Amino acid sequence: MKTKIAVLVSGGGTNLQALIDAQGGVLQSGEITLVVSNNAGAYALERAKKAGIPTAVVLKKECGSQEAFEEKLKALLTQHGIEVIILAGFMTILTENFTRCYPQRILNVHPSLIPSFCGAGFYGLRVHQAALDYGVKVTGATVHFVNEIPDGGQIIAQKAVEILPGDTPETLQRRVMEQAEWILLPQAAEQVCAHLQTL
Ligand code: GAR
Repeated sequence: MKTKIAVLVSGGGTNLQALIDAQGGVLQSGEITLVVSNNAGAYALERAKKAGIPTAVVLKKECGSQEAFEEKLKALLTQHGIEVIILAGFMTILTENFTRCYPQRILNVHPSLIPSFCGAGFYGLRVHQAALDYGVKVTGATVHFVNEIPDGGQIIAQKAVEILPGDTPETLQRRVMEQAEWILLPQAAEQVCAHLQTL
């Protein structure tokens, strides 16, 4: 039996796509059985539908509080028998109330080499803008376990990516995705799912 994976998304979903495309290839031990978005307009939902994966939308403002939002997410994940959760461009922070329920079972992909340019407020293009503003010559991506500290959980995999003269946040984001995120995330997902199957 494959490990049941839920992917949580908010936007374009290119990392979700990389996971979908890796199924049956790099990703052997796990299967994406649910995609959840906190944004009804996320293109990631279309990607899931095209791949025949069940989707759900949970809106924080309809839940009324962070706690109610997290309780709703937990109920959904339990209903679907989810064993591993992958945050793939999920642009909201989950509190300890949620993370403590899934120790070593939530993965996140972050578009920098943690501990640089990470933590609250560092997401999406802002991360690349911060790297360019600082003037670093190398950045990259990190896949890590999620705990109660934003971007503070144990690192699973990292890959460095060169910054080139003339880079904008957009060109850098694209290079980091192509050369690091889309490769690392499926590999890390496989590693975690394969490990869980040995327990
Ligand atoms: C990715 O670059 C991901 O690493 C980043 O948002 C982008 C989502 O793109 N995540 C964060 O910044 C989390 N702190 P995608 O929707 O195309 O996968």
